[in-house]
Amino acid sequence: MDNPPTLMIPGPTPVPEQVLLASAQPPISHRSTDFRTLMAEITAHLKWLHQTQHDVLILASSGTGAMEAGMINFLSPGDRVLVGCNGKFGDRWADLCQQFGLETERITVPWGQALAPKDFQQHLATEHQQPIKAVIITHSETSTGVLNDLEAIAREVKAHSQALIIVDAVTSLGICPVPMDEWGLDVVVSASQKGYRMPPGLGFVAVSPRAWQAYGSARFPRFYLDLGKSQKDAVANTTPFTPPVNLFFALQASLQMMRSEGLATMFAHQQCLMHATRTALRALNLPLFVPNDALASPAVTAIQPDAVDPESLRFQLQQHGVIIAAGQDHMRGQLIRIGHLGYICRRDILTTVAALEAALQDLEYPFHLGVGIQAVQHSFSQHSAGPSDLP
Ligand SMILES: Cc1ncc(COP(=O)(O)O)c(C=O)c1O
Repeated sequence: MDNPPTLMIPGPTPVPEQVLLASAQPPISHRSTDFRTLMAEITAHLKWLHQTQHDVLILASSGTGAMEAGMINFLSPGDRVLVGCNGKFGDRWADLCQQFGLETERITVPWGQALAPKDFQQHLATEHQQPIKAVIITHSETSTGVLNDLEAIAREVKAHSQALIIVDAVTSLGICPVPMDEWGLDVVVSASQKGYRMPPGLGFVAVSPRAWQAYGSARFPRFYLDLGKSQKDAVANTTPFTPPVNLFFALQASLQMMRSEGLATMFAHQQCLMHATRTALRALNLPLFVPNDALASPAVTAIQPDAVDPESLRFQLQQHGVIIAAGQDHMRGQLIRIGHLGYICRRDILTTVAALEAALQDLEYPFHLGVGIQAVQHSFSQHSAGPSDLP
């Protein structure tokens, strides 16, 4: 039987059938009334998802394209920026900024730990002739499974500077609250293959009025990623270049699904999946890389096994039909990561933990068969889940 494996990586994620089918329609002209109607609906849903009244622009790009657009449109060569680095994606931002000739300062904490809001306060309070133009934060650090306290960091940044707050919400948007306007975020980037429950291919950049002010004087060259062009056309419900119209159909379907569930239900569902995963891993004595539940990302859980080789476990799990992710950069071979974002339901967690137990048994890891599954069941009985959790 040609049964597809259960995909439990932190993106691309499983995609609902109705979203896939929506993308299988014949393409339409992107200069038609039908397209403008589609775009108007999508734009309204995107604002709802970002909890914003401001612009949310769509790019044909991956998340990194959205990161680059979110940076080059609002800054100029030589500007000082402060980047929070506690994993691969924070580091990616810092590398990107350096590559473009920004004066890049980093607040670095070890992988697996969270960025401390007071470190931002201290850094910003230090006298300097040239103020920091932007503070850049990765909300959910996918490489480690840490959820940084974005709300508190944004509060410190606002209290001590005029800096723009640029946020990578690639694995937090749609997964936990990212209320852009309430938290005063200026630029929020995300990508379709994560919490959107969609295939890869679309990047998103939400932009505050303060960021648009900065756009006016920003001096990096830009053309395809010029968000001013996108915004001008978005007002007329169109795009400056040919959009991937079939992905727009998929986006419409996924956003309609999300709206019918509601943000609170979506976030409760993610909490339910995260807690069940963490409870099972604890029961199996597999050390969580982020032991503190308060710092854990509801998108991805990393473990750092000591009594079993992580890569052998990942390989063995694959033999039982479940794909999980490896550690990244210097943590490759030390960590394994279970993604529980996108179109994942409770059954997928049960499947993953059952397969994990089978793989551990193959590797002669000492544990009582069934303790992981029992822990999942117990966790499910304690965390209510919404309708999206069916079956
Ligand atoms: C937090 C975060 N930022 C940025 C990216 C980069 O996205 P992409 O691979 O779509 O370019 C990822 C991808 O996993 C991510 O998890």
